Amino acid sequence: MLQDAQSAYRTITVKPHAHGFGAEVAGLDLRGPLPDDVLAEAKAAWAAHGVLSFPDQPLSLDELEAFTLQMGPFGDDPYVAPMPGHPNVLEVRREPDETLTPFGGAWHSDWSFQPQPPAATILRSEVIPPVGGDTLYCDATRAYEALDPATKARLAPLKAVHSASRAYGPKSGYARELDQRSMPIIVSPEADKTHAHPLVRTHPVTGRKALFISPVYTVGIEGMAPDQGDPLLSELYKHLTQEQFIYRQVWREGMVVIWDNRCTMHNALGGYDGHRRVMHRTTVAGDTPV
Ligand code: OGA
Ligand code: MN
Repeated sequence: MLQDAQSAYRTITVKPHAHGFGAEVAGLDLRGPLPDDVLAEAKAAWAAHGVLSFPDQPLSLDELEAFTLQMGPFGDDPYVAPMPGHPNVLEVRREPDETLTPFGGAWHSDWSFQPQPPAATILRSEVIPPVGGDTLYCDATRAYEALDPATKARLAPLKAVHSASRAYGPKSGYARELDQRSMPIIVSPEADKTHAHPLVRTHPVTGRKALFISPVYTVGIEGMAPDQGDPLLSELYKHLTQEQFIYRQVWREGMVVIWDNRCTMHNALGGYDGHRRVMHRTTVAGDTPV
């Protein structure tokens, strides 16, 4: 049973955002192990809302790792070198003198090219610029549910082909700009590998269907020529990114945000040239999309 009204929670306070997508959670301290009933309610709220923000969470890296492990085992993070001494934490950093698009600055679902992409990504905001630097999230579940029955039927048998090549392949944007970024991005021919997933996937917890594609990592539709597949994908991206499916995360320092990569896309906005932005990031392993 999905919990989406505050009356459904006993141990935490859940404030849903507009359009019923994303929620802020208060009334808990993410340091130290969460009691079983609190953890169960936090997981239920996460399943119900897709993106949860927890303001004012002064976590050390060790505590961020421990919280992550309460949500599930670590995922495998390719293409960015981890933080020294913390093999499961990445630092998302942009320095005041950087001018390129931010890391994650186009619509995507994290590492969707993996055979088992991460269920969750967790970010903790360390340094937040005084302007800009918001993150947009898109609700791929409601976007799917809003499609007409004929489109749903047309999409049902399709598989989307995912690849890291546009981001991390030898011919990618990052490959040309490595020396202009402070993040330790790793470019590799491995990134040109492809992996197909159902274009519509069913969430293992909620049972709801969601569109599972993104302009960064989806490179085509299996069995379709680009002149057929690309226009269909473009049409779906236009549909997904309509205002009624978007939540905008405005960050404050010391926030923890967890999102569900199985049913959302996200996009890191810029607008803060001249300022530093630093986030610590972990992923929770996921399963094979079905
Ligand atoms: C990520 C990402 C968004 C942001 O870490 O995967 O896309 O706003 N970050 O930093
Ligand atoms: Mn991302």
